[in-house]
Amino acid sequence: MNTSAFNNLQEIALRVKNCTDCALSADRTNAVPGEGSEDAKLLFIGEGPGQQEDRQGRPFVGAAGKFLEELLASIGLTREQVFIANMIKCRPPQNRDPSPDEMAACSKYLDRQIELLNPELIVTLGRFSLGRFFPGESITRARGKVREKDGRFIYPVMHPAAALHRQENRSVIVQDFSEIPAVLEKLSQTRSGAPIPDPVSQESTSAEPVHSESPQPEAPQPEAPQKVEAAVTEQLDMFSAPLLPQTAEFEPEPDTIPETVAPSTQQLSLF
Ligand code: URA
Repeated sequence: MNTSAFNNLQEIALRVKNCTDCALSADRTNAVPGEGSEDAKLLFIGEGPGQQEDRQGRPFVGAAGKFLEELLASIGLTREQVFIANMIKCRPPQNRDPSPDEMAACSKYLDRQIELLNPELIVTLGRFSLGRFFPGESITRARGKVREKDGRFIYPVMHPAAALHRQENRSVIVQDFSEIPAVLEKLSQTRSGAPIPDPVSQESTSAEPVHSESPQPEAPQPEAPQKVEAAVTEQLDMFSAPLLPQTAEFEPEPDTIPETVAPSTQQLSLF
């Protein structure tokens, strides 16, 4: 299918609601195209609809959604100000993992949503949406660090449902969300060519270690968009190194198997 045939988000939603491209369509009550602001700077990508989402045709309206709304509120946002989508648009039976075939059949919708929204930052929620950008990577290793992929900036976070299963994941997710405003600010400063504040030399009230050896990249001058993108990527890379060894790998399953990560003291560096 030529996905550029979808001219706007409403067309995608209509097509999703009538989609029969995979077997999940047979058992759904409602497809869940995604929703939010067409001008959103932030796009959140979850896994797929659960029971409540299937009933209502809206993303993240169950228990995980309630926590997502709290997380958004913690950074001064409402769900109406961002866009919330999923890897797959129909609920798998018993909330099982989406299959590779199902994700492949559905990817045209998310691909076009990303193109149309053109968000400043994509926040992936959980391992399946992380896998769309960085296949095979561990969420426990990838979380909390901005990365660039195909000209887009991706910020992986654990799935909010992981906090419902394991209380200790809550603080990790809250911490990663709390960094989002600074990530956006840094991206915007870098795009506009303004000097980037040194995250190291600034006075810190935190008792945590700081990455005092990070070299400070030169701020790029405004120039051709592609060059600026490349400069942004370079700068982000400079800050992406974790301070301490990563926690042991543990692959989470948002709705069934708990995600577990020891509350981290190692992700101070925003990038
Ligand atoms: N979990 C998801 O990944 N997406 C939803 O929409 C709801 C729960």
